[in-house]
Amino acid sequence: MKRYVILISGRGSNMESLLDAGLPGNCAAVISNRPEAAGLAAAASRGVATRAIDHRGFATREAFDADLAAEIERHAPDLVLLAGFMRILTDDFVRRFEGRLLNIHPSLLPLFPGVRTHAQALAAGVRLHGCSVHFVTPALDGGPIIAQAAVPVQADDDAETLGRRVLAEEHRIYPRVARWFLDGRLRLVGGRVCLEGETAVSGSLHVPQIA
Ligand code: GRF
Repeated sequence: MKRYVILISGRGSNMESLLDAGLPGNCAAVISNRPEAAGLAAAASRGVATRAIDHRGFATREAFDADLAAEIERHAPDLVLLAGFMRILTDDFVRRFEGRLLNIHPSLLPLFPGVRTHAQALAAGVRLHGCSVHFVTPALDGGPIIAQAAVPVQADDDAETLGRRVLAEEHRIYPRVARWFLDGRLRLVGGRVCLEGETAVSGSLHVPQIA
C-alpha cells in the first residue's frame, strides 16, 4: 500500500477532501506548521496521525524545513500533498521531494501566484477563474501544471463568493490528481507532466453569455 503525507496550515478542507476520497493509499500523517490549525482535529477524528511543527520556534527557514523534512521522511511517503500549507519552502526541501510533491493553488496558474488570488482575479477583471494542481518546484507556484478547473466570474462576485466556488472545484480536482499519482499513472519526467491514459477534452466555455 502506498503512503502519503499531507501538510496543512489552517482549516484543512482540501485535506478532508483527500482523506474522504478513498484514495488507493494510506495517509501516514497530517503535519501542520501551526498547532492551532483546525484541520488537525479533523484529521485526528478520522484516525490519522497528526503532528504540529510550529515554524515560529525556529530561527531560520532552513532549520524549520530540515525538521519538517525529517518528520516527513520518517513516514517514507510515496507522495507529499501541500493542502493549504502557507509556508514558502526552501529549494533544498523542494529538491528533496521533487517529483512526489504536489500543491493546490486557487487560481488558473500562471495567473495570480501568491496570496489573495480571488481579489487579484476580481481586480484584473478576468471572466474565468479557477484552481490548479501542480508539481512543486523551487519556483513559487511555478511548477508543471497537472490539472485545472475553471469557474465563471459572476458580475456580483466578491472574493468570498468567488472563492467558495473555486474551493468546491479544488475539492474535486485534488483527490483526482492524487489518485492518478498513487495509481502510478502520473509522473514528473524531465520537468514535464507525464499522465497515462489522458484523453482529449472537447468543447469550450464561453463567458459571458447573453440570454
Ligand atoms: C485553499 O484555497 C488552497 O488552495 C490555498 O489555501 C486554501 C486552503 O484551504 N492554498 P483549506 O485549508 O484546504 O480549507
